[in-house]
Amino acid sequence: MNVMTTIDDVKIIDLPKFTDPRGNLSFVEQLNHIPFEIKRTYWIYDVPGGECRGAHAYKENQEFIIALSGAFDVIVADGKKEKRFTLNRSYYGLYVPSGLWRKMENFSTNSLALEFGSSNYAPSDYILDYNEFKKLKRNGTL
Ligand code: TYD
Repeated sequence: MNVMTTIDDVKIIDLPKFTDPRGNLSFVEQLNHIPFEIKRTYWIYDVPGGECRGAHAYKENQEFIIALSGAFDVIVADGKKEKRFTLNRSYYGLYVPSGLWRKMENFSTNSLALEFGSSNYAPSDYILDYNEFKKLKRNGTL
């Protein structure tokens, strides 16, 4: 699955949006808007100003990230190039395949990052060292 993914495989995916004078509604479905089966959902909140989260890569886990509230940036890198995505609306999300370095920063006050994952939490799925990540990308093993 994660063979030689690049930042070109990272995609903003628009979600359905039902605008309504009573308040808007959006939703996501697995294997539809989210291109994998959801095994896990978690969220990041109460991030103090200036903090950075999630500087690592996953070997297998794919993710879909939505800024449910507020705004933050997701920086994705493939060892050669990197790209910054600013998420600031709840009616689209960012699909991040496995095998990419990703970090999150510039969280606005009261921002809420909702993340769906394709696998259960597993510390062994993390690559925490950027040089190790670059080596695996160079070798073509990630
Ligand atoms: P981690 O993914 O390391 O966050 P970040 O990359 O932003 O630093 O997660 C932080 C802690 O939360 C980690 O010690 C384990 C726990 N955790 C779970 O138990 N389950 C999960 O699904 C996630 C994402 C984290």
